[in-house]
Amino acid sequence: PEVITVQELANRMAEKATDAIRVLMKMGMMVTINENLDQDTAELVVRELGHLPKRVSEADVEIGLVGEEDNLEDMQVRPPVVTIMGHVDHGKTSLLDALRETDVASGEAGGITQHIGAYQVTLSSGARITFLDTPGHEAFTQMRARGARVTDLVVIVVAADDGIMPQTIEAINHAKAANVPMIIAINKMDAPGASADRVRQELLQHDVQVEAMGGDVLDVEVSALKRQNLDKLEEAILLQSEVLELKANPNRAAEGVVVEAKLEKGRGPVATLLVARGTLRVGDIVVAGAEWGKVRAMVDERGRQLDEAAPARPVEILGLNGAPSAGDDFSVVDSEGRARDVSQYRQQQQRKRRQFTTPTSIEGMFSQLK
Ligand code: GTP
Ligand code: MG
Repeated sequence: PEVITVQELANRMAEKATDAIRVLMKMGMMVTINENLDQDTAELVVRELGHLPKRVSEADVEIGLVGEEDNLEDMQVRPPVVTIMGHVDHGKTSLLDALRETDVASGEAGGITQHIGAYQVTLSSGARITFLDTPGHEAFTQMRARGARVTDLVVIVVAADDGIMPQTIEAINHAKAANVPMIIAINKMDAPGASADRVRQELLQHDVQVEAMGGDVLDVEVSALKRQNLDKLEEAILLQSEVLELKANPNRAAEGVVVEAKLEKGRGPVATLLVARGTLRVGDIVVAGAEWGKVRAMVDERGRQLDEAAPARPVEILGLNGAPSAGDDFSVVDSEGRARDVSQYRQQQQRKRRQFTTPTSIEGMFSQLK
């Protein structure tokens, strides 16, 4: 495993080495600036000093731990992770449902589809696409606020009979701020009064130039209701993905992000994880946010049991001892002791943060005193 000296770590954070040493002392470690720190310890220091640990690799996925860099030759093409956003009622849910059915296995008997917050479709060509199936904006904003960049592409749905609306603009701004490429799905092409050209014109007014207007943003006319042109939309997604050269090293301890998590009666904490790098396996010891556990079982969006999950694969796991938050990072560690330490430290940090949160209102003050 890769190590980093205290001095180098401090440099990367633009902090004084003495401050890093002070943090380490509080953690019970007496070190000099030349001491080598392992990843987990380095991450704790980074967090303690108020920074968000960030990868420095080619992987382009900004999540969690200060991890080992992957060698370029270990990188393999991975499926894109796509979020669908758009104005209320423009057809996000309908489109997600329609796309889900394009999976080659969707006709299989016994394919119970359950909601796990994300799903992956395999197209007849063998290509795969992962869709985040969470209330678009919310999850995206939440994850972004935590520094997690899980989405490679945003599909912005615009109803052709309604045009650009406030939340369309919001979605465009989100995508731009996150520097994530967008594809426009002009939906409801079957509806009376539908006009794709009007949508394109309106987009232009918001600095989004689709190809027909001389720009480079891809747009596709679809109907989620009539299941029209879904293959074209998927083609556009794959085309855009190729440009992005999305790659990850599948042969390493898994890391990624928590898409959603909840406590389920009879099942305990259930979390949907999206693997960003490495391969997640049943039996792995996982730290997710401030929680940890051994992966007892793994299922996909069709309720199928899996033994392993490769990059960009969303899975629901059982075995954590609590529910982490959406947007938390997760990573596989090599011992239960390590997992417990990191989890304990993070829980302590959470308590501290809550304790020191400045009340913003009288009401807030009372709830803090309770
Ligand atoms: P919110 O989750 O409330 O923001 O809405 P949404 O964006 O998820 O839209 P939803 O999929 O719920 O669709 C809203 C309405 O538009 C529903 O009545 C759909 O049946 C209808 N709708 C969705 N797609 C199409 C389409 O392609 N054509 C037509 N004619 N109607 C559609
Ligand atoms: Mg919806």
